[in-house]
Amino acid sequence: MQWATTTLAFYGLGATALATSMLTLGRRLELSQAKHRSLAGHARMARRLAGFVPFYDYDEDRFFDSDNAPADIAGLRRAGLARLSEVYKTRFPETVRCSAEAAKTISDLQFTGAYRVPFQYRRVVRAHLPLGTFLQSSEGVTVTDLDGNRFYDLTGSYGVNVFGYDFYKGTIERGAARMHELGPVLGAYHPLIIENANRIREISGLDEVSFHMSGTEAVMQAVRLARYHTRRSHLVRFCGAYHGWWGDVQPGIGNPQPAHETYTLAEMSEETLHVLRTRRDIACVLVNPEQGLHPNAPAPTDSSLLDSTRSSHFDREAYTDWLKRLRDVCSERNIVLIFDEVFVGFRLAPGGAQDYFGVRADLVTYGKTIGGGLPIGVVCGRKDLMKRFRDDRPADICFARGTFNAHPYVMAAMNEFLRQFQAPETQALYRGLDAVWDGRAKRLNRRLAEEGLPVQVANMSALWVVYYTQPSRYNWMLQYYLRAQGLTLSWVGTARLIFSLNYTDADFDAVADRFVAAAKTMQQDGWWWHDPATTNKTIRQAIMKEMIAHRLFPSRKH
Ligand SMILES: Cc1ncc(COP(=O)(O)O)c(C=O)c1O
Repeated sequence: MQWATTTLAFYGLGATALATSMLTLGRRLELSQAKHRSLAGHARMARRLAGFVPFYDYDEDRFFDSDNAPADIAGLRRAGLARLSEVYKTRFPETVRCSAEAAKTISDLQFTGAYRVPFQYRRVVRAHLPLGTFLQSSEGVTVTDLDGNRFYDLTGSYGVNVFGYDFYKGTIERGAARMHELGPVLGAYHPLIIENANRIREISGLDEVSFHMSGTEAVMQAVRLARYHTRRSHLVRFCGAYHGWWGDVQPGIGNPQPAHETYTLAEMSEETLHVLRTRRDIACVLVNPEQGLHPNAPAPTDSSLLDSTRSSHFDREAYTDWLKRLRDVCSERNIVLIFDEVFVGFRLAPGGAQDYFGVRADLVTYGKTIGGGLPIGVVCGRKDLMKRFRDDRPADICFARGTFNAHPYVMAAMNEFLRQFQAPETQALYRGLDAVWDGRAKRLNRRLAEEGLPVQVANMSALWVVYYTQPSRYNWMLQYYLRAQGLTLSWVGTARLIFSLNYTDADFDAVADRFVAAAKTMQQDGWWWHDPATTNKTIRQAIMKEMIAHRLFPSRKH
């Protein structure tokens, strides 16, 4: 009897263990199904594979015919590069000299300098098209380099520049003047911080505010608060979305350590909603609304422009619908919905992305432009979520401090920014804003198509992505032709053009003329020669073959 009871108990335990592991397995399977199919959707695998990519590069011959172009086309390209190189050497000598000197000791410059084009082409490009990263002044929508060349600025200073550089010169100057008496005293506040908090509350529609030093820090704090209040471990970020360089939000390539408490899920996906609805370990969902322009794809830098698969299309209705459904599931499951508006806040609508898409978040992060031109990160949120201690557990706190948080000069520049932002003349800018920028994108696309150029742009308001309509291995060259035409881009190249909202029609037309001229020259120089048998797939296969060969036989000449 005793024996039978024990056996039964064992069977019972075994059955329970089996059921539990089946359930765990089922949950894991659901998680896998909610991942995006791309490599970016599989952060760990991407990191592992990245470690296998061998370095190799093209010599001065292969550089011109890596797509197996015939000799006459390679010759055209060679002559084109020589002409372009001459322009760079004669027009930008001091800017380039200074950049080269700085790159010896400033590691950031070494990094950005190395990642402007696919690495196979890097050596030849750097020898012939040295880029300068130095400027002496800015005015209107232009910047001027050390050699006195004026460029239309398409960098938007990483998104900080929403209203034009002169606007921020004003906010910084007036702010500094107002802080003259207090000086850089930290820890205590100047009274204008109260107005800042109230204005941000008004803009965000949320209850409380905290100040940090960068967007990355604001995101860290928002996630920490969500974990603290929900007592759950995991954050969900969407495939391809950037939220700064903190490890937990950058689980893939770029971070040497895996992020153990991050789920990278597919955006605009039923499977993701199912995971959110059924798992119990999810504290928060982070949304970067910029992803509406290219859901599930990382901001596509020109260094990864190996072919023409880059594609972008902003479907406002579909993205709005997705955000609404996400909101519902988060409310249902008490998951904290965080809108990371560090980049898009103040760009799309007076009340930011929440206003633009008509969806309320529980926590919102701002950064970049809200500092009035100075470094900043802001978290705002519901009162219950912003609280950093528990009344009934005094030792259980959610710590977040920082020496330079709420620096008086930053607060003063922010105050100037917020006042001017909320002034009726600035608010008026947002009326019909999308129509203006959609119209400009459409005009440029029409011109490019009429000229038979394989280039188009997609946009979310004044944020633009350039994409390419025919398979090619040389699209990344366009950034160099654009610069020669007086258009300056950030180090990610044609992956992102950021216009400030002070671009007039005349300014824009000048940019469009130069853009078309650059693309035409590039076409005349043969870079977009196309073998009809070539597809994006065949390009990728060819590169894969090269990589495998170099991995297996590194010392052999290929
Ligand atoms: C959406 C988003 N979140 C966070 C960050 C990080 O901000 P910061 O560079 O100020 O640390 C960025 C920066 O580009 C961003 O675009």
